[in-house]
Amino acid sequence: MSQAGVTARLIDDRIALAWGDGSNAVFPAIWLRDNCRCPKCRHASGQRLFEITDLPVDLQVGKVEVTGDRLLVTWAPDGHASSFALDWLQAHDLNPLQRAARYEKPVLWGADLKATLPVADWQKLRQDPALELAWHDDFAAYGFGVLRNVPREDGQVEVVGNHLGFVRVTNYGSRFDVFSVPNPNNLAFTAVGLGVHSDNPYRDPTPGVQLLHCLESDAPGGDTLLVDGFHAAAILRREDPAAFELLCKLPFNFRFRDAKADLQARVPLIKTDVDGHVTEVHFNNRSADLLDAPVELVAPWYAAYRKLAEILKRPELELIFRLGPGDLVVMMNERALHGRTAFDPSKGRRHLQGCYIDKDGIESRRRILRRQLRQHEEVAA
Ligand SMILES: [Fe+2]
Repeated sequence: MSQAGVTARLIDDRIALAWGDGSNAVFPAIWLRDNCRCPKCRHASGQRLFEITDLPVDLQVGKVEVTGDRLLVTWAPDGHASSFALDWLQAHDLNPLQRAARYEKPVLWGADLKATLPVADWQKLRQDPALELAWHDDFAAYGFGVLRNVPREDGQVEVVGNHLGFVRVTNYGSRFDVFSVPNPNNLAFTAVGLGVHSDNPYRDPTPGVQLLHCLESDAPGGDTLLVDGFHAAAILRREDPAAFELLCKLPFNFRFRDAKADLQARVPLIKTDVDGHVTEVHFNNRSADLLDAPVELVAPWYAAYRKLAEILKRPELELIFRLGPGDLVVMMNERALHGRTAFDPSKGRRHLQGCYIDKDGIESRRRILRRQLRQHEEVAA
């Protein structure tokens, strides 16, 4: 940004900055004081050295001025001085347009994405940070990604999981096998088709990311089915806003029980953030337990639930592709809802291995790659 012509003025308990191009930003005094980066306020690690209760309750701006590329503020009544880089302030502008621009908008998809699946070769990706970052960018936009050429060996799914993040151990262990078994404790371990779902909504927190690695797939059928839960939620919101709101508002109970576990969690089927962006979709018919809600809301909730389920079955939303041996799909569990077509275990084998990692781990990996590549570019420059 050009620093020329930036001016600051105090309006009540806010500092207004005019950027010089006609646009403005407004920063509440308490927000600025809390973000002071001086050595008294922040340790060299970046961690904050004071608590909110340490700040003057009657905090006021004593003096404010723009000097060069910095905003200087002297606070009253304690005389504390803060200095903010204008670049930093612009990057964190709280103006609705700027906040909207910072939101990483998901790319909503449907059946058509089959022609351009977000895919990379695992052997190349693990050697090439730029290729891996491009895959992460796609993963963030689409909510899933495919890796090919993952060795067809037991436990490789955990190797990939621990590269992308940290494998989470559950009552299923650190990984699980999906194939048909006698006396299964879960429909996933049979040969029937599975409607799209998020995994394990009965856990708190729900697993953020699921990995499924195909070791064998010569049984007829058993294709992978993915539906973009955010796309389905957007359609519901457009076609029936009241139904959307109800699914955001009322928590639903999910449950899983077997001999060793009794897992339950209450979660709304759709979660949104403070700006109304959809952040999570929870949908799992097999572990759906019950609704505990005011009686007058029960029938409307069921009507809304049915509408969402109907949208999730629309063929134009169903992305169907075949995972071959050595392919591995990584999914944002609360977005890319997954299922499979039925298969015939008498005519061949189908064996997948899966594991879970958390969202924060894979998001951290992406930031680290960005940082590495930026440093690399800076060194190269
Ligand atoms: Fe599943």
